[in-house]
Amino acid sequence: MMAAMSSKPNEPHRPRRLRRGAGLRDAVADVIIHPNHLIYPLFVINLEYSKPVSSMPEVSQLPVKEAVGRIRELAGLGLRQFLLFGVTPADQKNPQGSYASSPEAPVNRVLREVRQAGIDAVMYADLCFCEYTDHGHCGILSGATADARRSGSAHACADVDNDATVARLAQTAVVQAQAGADVVAPSGMMDGQVGAIRRALDEAGYPHTAILAYSIKYASTFYGPFREAGEGGMKTGDRRGYQMDFRRSREWRIELEADLAQGADMVMVKPAATYLDIVRQVREATSVPVAAYHVSGEYAMLHAAAQRGWLDLKASALETTCAIRRAGADLIVTYFAPRLIEWL
Ligand code: PBG
Repeated sequence: MMAAMSSKPNEPHRPRRLRRGAGLRDAVADVIIHPNHLIYPLFVINLEYSKPVSSMPEVSQLPVKEAVGRIRELAGLGLRQFLLFGVTPADQKNPQGSYASSPEAPVNRVLREVRQAGIDAVMYADLCFCEYTDHGHCGILSGATADARRSGSAHACADVDNDATVARLAQTAVVQAQAGADVVAPSGMMDGQVGAIRRALDEAGYPHTAILAYSIKYASTFYGPFREAGEGGMKTGDRRGYQMDFRRSREWRIELEADLAQGADMVMVKPAATYLDIVRQVREATSVPVAAYHVSGEYAMLHAAAQRGWLDLKASALETTCAIRRAGADLIVTYFAPRLIEWL
């Protein structure tokens, strides 16, 4: 008799079987974010008091002492990677951004103090001039652009002098390595910057200092809040003459290959959450570690929605960070890092 047979069709695929209960769900979750994967950006300043960044809740510009204290505290909690950005007082800014290579610049002071204190942290130094130049561009302007600015032309298209900027980046990298950076992170998108920095570091006796190249960095509106945080906004023009055009879907490979050939130890895709397709493709195209930067605007969006009660901050931050990891990022630069180590 066939009576014992179920009237239901045979269903070998019932994905819900593995969703029954937290234990099973956790057991089969294969995308894991560990504190080791997170890099926390800090804005450091040569002032006595910290200053909150209004467009980035929970983020402040930190005086050197406070920054070192925060690094010590977070390292004790298992968050051990930090990316330093320096804030420059207006009276120290100039067309070349010379303050970047001053040993007294806050980034270099924090690096020295972290090393002297023997804190167990991996220290990355952002290497770019936009927080140091008076015009706010990521490098030295070409002669024609500088002349147009002097004559007051509002339409001066910002043309950054690639090779002059690269030479200054290389010198600045050596100062950062000397101060104690484990990794320098050039973010200015100048052609040839990685090779020049590598040579300068090697010649100066820093062959062990690594380079995290911001290889694939798009000209993005999502950097808006960062420009308040780093006080590195441009007086005129934009960055489309050096950062990548988000309408080009294949150019990443050119940047990636160039930086790897020049000695990049790790590469970065930036922004992250709005460029997951690029993160995935870069992950598949290379075996070096791939970092992705969940940028200020992507961070601010979640906070803004959460403040209005439109999104849950914790859930949306965890989901977004997981998406970046799932796309293939080995390392995630995120302002959520201290919260994530609480939540994970
Ligand atoms: C500097 C730099 C920027 C960011 C990191 N390094 C700003 C820019 O290129 O305009 C943005 C980071 C963020 O938005 O969180 N070149």
